[in-house]
Formats: sequence, structure tokens, C-alpha cells
Amino acid sequence: MNKKKIRIEQLETLHNLDYLVREQKEYLVSRKLFQMSEWNKADTIGITVSKQPEIHTWEMIKRAWEEGKTVCVPKCIPKTKELHFYVLTSFTQLEKVYYDLYEPNPDKVSFIDKKKLDLILVPGLGFTKEGFRLGFGGGYYDRYLENFPGCTIALAFSEHLLKELPVEPFDVPVNKIVTEDGVINCE
Ligand SMILES: Nc1ncnc2c1ncn2[C@@H]1O[C@H](COP(=O)(O)OP(=O)(O)OP(=O)(O)O)[C@@H](O)[C@H]1O
Ligand SMILES: [Mg+2]
Repeated sequence: MNKKKIRIEQLETLHNLDYLVREQKEYLVSRKLFQMSEWNKADTIGITVSKQPEIHTWEMIKRAWEEGKTVCVPKCIPKTKELHFYVLTSFTQLEKVYYDLYEPNPDKVSFIDKKKLDLILVPGLGFTKEGFRLGFGGGYYDRYLENFPGCTIALAFSEHLLKELPVEPFDVPVNKIVTEDGVINCE
């Protein structure tokens, strides 16, 4: 099956998850994440501002602030399909861009270089246990992670785990996947 078909299937599966089941899974994923040494060691993290049906990241952002971490969130640059991360210190620094997506308002936040991020929490629609990822199809994360020296952890529910995915030469795998059932070490 090609990426496009799997994307449609995965979007449907994720949209159909029961609200309470989803809430519980999100709680378990974040609890497991907060126990990981990669999370605890990271001073500066990159994390998306989630929108449905992505795993909710707002509580993770709050927790990171409480732990004194520097929280960086991405802005998509559609022209070049690049991600730019900015330091977020308040939700009021976000603005609604397209598709109901919240992004940092560049006038209110400062740009951060990729080299300064210790950990990136990578969103996606599906992952294999080898860490290969199906995203939303823009290639944004593949471009950003191409020469990223830090650690990458995918946030996933068991519904995100796929037996197989078409892998292309530019697809960059994540180091670990955290789900409600535990952590998968992809290396
Ligand atoms: N490093 C790269 N340099 C140039 N083009 C790239 C690179 N990585 C991906 N692309 C382009 O991006 C397109 C989309 O890639 P892919 O289908 O893997 O998206 P995705 O990983 O699901 O998306 P996203 O990361 O935005 O969630 C590909 O057709 C490819 O041409
Ligand atoms: Mg890809």
C-alpha cells in the first residue's frame, strides 16, 4: 500500500478513537515519556502544538515549563517545506495559521537553532518498530531531521504502530517510540 492510502486509513482510525479511550492513552503516553531519561536529561525540547487527531501535547508543554525546560515549537514554511523552531514561554505567543493549526507568532518569540535542541518529540500518523514514520506528507520532519544531532522520540498510540510502511531514501527514522504500552527502542 502507498503512503497516501495508509494516511487516509490512519486518519480514519485515529478520528474514530473513543474520547475516553484516547484521554486514557494520552495520559499513559505522557506518563511514560516523563519517566524516560531522554526527557529528564533534555534541557531544550522541540515539540509540536498538537491539533486533532495528533496526540495532545499541551499538557507536555506545561510539564516541560514546570520542570524548567526550554520549550520550542515549530512553524511550517510552506514555500520551502521547512520547519523553524521558536522558543515558547506562553501559549499567548501562538497564533492560528491555516487548518486550525497553532504556530508561534514570529513577532513574539525567538528563533532557536537546531543544534540547541536536545530532544524532539516527533508527531506522526504511523510508525514501524524500526522507527520509520508516516507523517502528513509534506516532508517537513524529514527535512528538519536530516542533519539533526539530538535525540528523537515519537509519540504514539498502539493504533499508530504499523507492520510495514513504504520507506523512501529521505525518510528519517526516530530513535524511540513511546506508546501507552511502553517504549520501543528503534536502534
Ligand atoms: N530531505 C529532503 N530533501 C528534499 N525533499 C524531501 C526531503 N525529505 C522529504 N522530501 C520530499 O517530501 C515529500 C514528502 O515526504 P513524505 O511522504 O515522506 O512525507 P512525511 O514524512 O509523511 O511528511 P511530514 O514530515 O511533513 O509529516 C517527498 O515526496 C519528498 O520529495
Ligand atoms: Mg517521510
